[in-house]
Amino acid sequence: MTPTAAHQPVLLEESLEGLAVKPDGVYADLTFGRGGHSRGLLARLGPAGRLVAFDRDPDAVAAGQAIQDPRFEILHATFSTLEQRLASLGIAQLDGLLADLGVSSPQLDEAQRGFSFTRDGPLDMRMDPADGPSAAQWLSDVDVDELEGVLKDHGDERYSGQIARAIVSRCKAAARGEAEPLLRTGELAQVVARVYAKKGARISPGHHPATRTFQALRIHLNRELDELEALLACAPTILRPGGRLAIISFHSLEDRRVKQSSRLPPIERHARMTRARFAMLKPDASTLPPPLREISRARASAAEARTNPRARSAVLRVLEATQR
Ligand SMILES: C[S@@+](CC[C@H](N)C(=O)[O-])C[C@H]1O[C@@H](n2cnc3c(N)ncnc32)[C@H](O)[C@@H]1O
Repeated sequence: MTPTAAHQPVLLEESLEGLAVKPDGVYADLTFGRGGHSRGLLARLGPAGRLVAFDRDPDAVAAGQAIQDPRFEILHATFSTLEQRLASLGIAQLDGLLADLGVSSPQLDEAQRGFSFTRDGPLDMRMDPADGPSAAQWLSDVDVDELEGVLKDHGDERYSGQIARAIVSRCKAAARGEAEPLLRTGELAQVVARVYAKKGARISPGHHPATRTFQALRIHLNRELDELEALLACAPTILRPGGRLAIISFHSLEDRRVKQSSRLPPIERHARMTRARFAMLKPDASTLPPPLREISRARASAAEARTNPRARSAVLRVLEATQR
């Protein structure tokens, strides 16, 4: 484990600009990683400002503990526990929240963390290695239908059925003592690559056939979409009116949820319009705008995408808590 391993922050200036940092404001960086965004925030805060960072990964927390600054503290916690954690620090509301979703470069690059299909390591994939089953444990007794659903829903994997059957049959053979257990990232990558080879599938240059399988398993094991939904649900109350959430997504499953949080679902929109038009109601909770308003959206510049490949798929949305 190397807590100081590097991570190049994505859309750094754009997200800090989007937050419109107040020098004496109170902020939370929900995904500390190696602290690129936290350091940028601290540089914009004055002596009365405060920054609380979160990360579920103990390596990231160890890196954060090296920051000696009375305005800063780091918590080993998931951001779905934001409200309780802040309450325990006596913080009821914030001026801004920053979330740079997904995995950090050290998590991907360190083979021991088990996220990489190119660097062989233990088949783990947990951001917090003490939270929930590892990928190897989960795969050892998953059934084909559940695994196929995960690969399809979280990875949009076109061979989800074939890959699920190949993995489950390997794990069942291992349980009978007829094959080696599936314990390494390299072995899982090979199982997937064999399915692609059998199908004669064309793979675009620079893409490994196991990319989508690894993405899907990682999202599932770390409950990444549940975490995001919990954050989007609590952001409007934890932010002061006018407070901002800058959120960087790396794939459409995340970005779609972020986008929808500032829009009313069509049925609710229709119901509100109908009530307002025909019942001549005074504005009440049912006719108010959505609790978050999108104020900007940005992608990495060509220059940033060239120097930091992670930035290529990043989308930053800045949402503002509306007056309620
Ligand atoms: C993309 S990295 C953040 C990089 C960071 N902005 C930087 O500049 O170094 C994402 C980090 O968020 C953490 N993380 C992801 N989901 C989380 C969650 N639900 N709760 C807390 N931390 C989470 C990961 O462990 C990882 O360290």
